[in-house]
Amino acid sequence: MSAKSVVIGGGTGFIGTHLSNLLKKSGYNVLTVSRMPGYDRITWHELNEKGLPNDTIAAVNVAGQNVLDPSRRWTSGFQQNVWNSRINTTTSFVRAITNAKTKPNIFISVSGVSLYRPSDSKIYNEDDKGEDFDYMSNLCLNWEKAAELPANETTRLVRIRSGVVIGSNGGMIKSLKLPFWFGFGGKIGDGTQPLPWIHIEDLCQMIKYSIETEKVNGVLNGVAPDIITNGDFTKAFGAAMRRPTFFTTPAFVIQQLFGKERAALLLTGAKIHPKRTLELGYQYKYPKVIDACREVC
Ligand SMILES: NC(=O)c1ccc[n+]([C@@H]2O[C@H](COP(=O)([O-])OP(=O)(O)OC[C@H]3O[C@@H](n4cnc5c(N)ncnc54)[C@H](OP(=O)(O)O)[C@@H]3O)[C@@H](O)[C@H]2O)c1
Repeated sequence: MSAKSVVIGGGTGFIGTHLSNLLKKSGYNVLTVSRMPGYDRITWHELNEKGLPNDTIAAVNVAGQNVLDPSRRWTSGFQQNVWNSRINTTTSFVRAITNAKTKPNIFISVSGVSLYRPSDSKIYNEDDKGEDFDYMSNLCLNWEKAAELPANETTRLVRIRSGVVIGSNGGMIKSLKLPFWFGFGGKIGDGTQPLPWIHIEDLCQMIKYSIETEKVNGVLNGVAPDIITNGDFTKAFGAAMRRPTFFTTPAFVIQQLFGKERAALLLTGAKIHPKRTLELGYQYKYPKVIDACREVC
């Protein structure tokens, strides 16, 4: 690998693929850490055994088992998979960085916003530490903790708390496109729950900006500045697809399908402002949800 190499955990996924393509287009070499061996990949076992390649300038972790996989029941076994796929992969990176002779400039851990307790009145920013009030909040807190580097490390640490990622090839949009296309689109529950979101291009550009901008460190909210509800999103996505949005998926159906704990991801949400992200100079390409929806449609 050349001097501009980025190692991405979970580089085969929805976010990871977009990020790899963006970085490759910008002249970086990309190496993926995956469960499966392959071209331009190493396995987690190899990362644990051999560490990071010497010329790694940045390590980014976007690995994680899909929590909202409707084919998987919310059993303790599945919860353990969800947990390990985030905490153990993050720990592997931290160990590899700690043991590296030549340190990468930056380690970026992409986690979630579920540590912000849903509230009708409060608008959270990165100064809010988050609370442990359910499985997902506990996971997010431990995920961020797992990413901590020893105090004497020279590697910059950036922890991005990502909202729901809007992009055409995966995540929420992939599962919504078909029902909306056939006119069955609509809000979830009463639609008043906040929906922290970010366009995939912005999340990946934010990662690239962090790699390239020395002053960026600490926690960043990976959400767009446009604070919206599930109902607002439904209207914007329906308008972008030129489809009606009369249908509503009742809360009890979501709870039946996913179990109460996971259903909370869809039925509740917090209002979140990307204060530090903006202060550090990141400029959004898709600050408004209607533009983000138009792009993915
Ligand atoms: N998409 C969103 O809206 C969103 C929002 C907030 C946060 N995030 C977080 O961002 C990360 C990536 O999301 P994504 O949407 O890109 O997910 P994704 O498309 O499901 O991809 C995640 C990648 O993680 C790896 N992975 C899956 N299960 C794993 C396991 N049990 N152990 C180790 N690795 C595993 C897979 O890589 P291999 O098969 O190559 O091993 C997969 O390609 C996740 O941690 C997710 O929680 C996503």
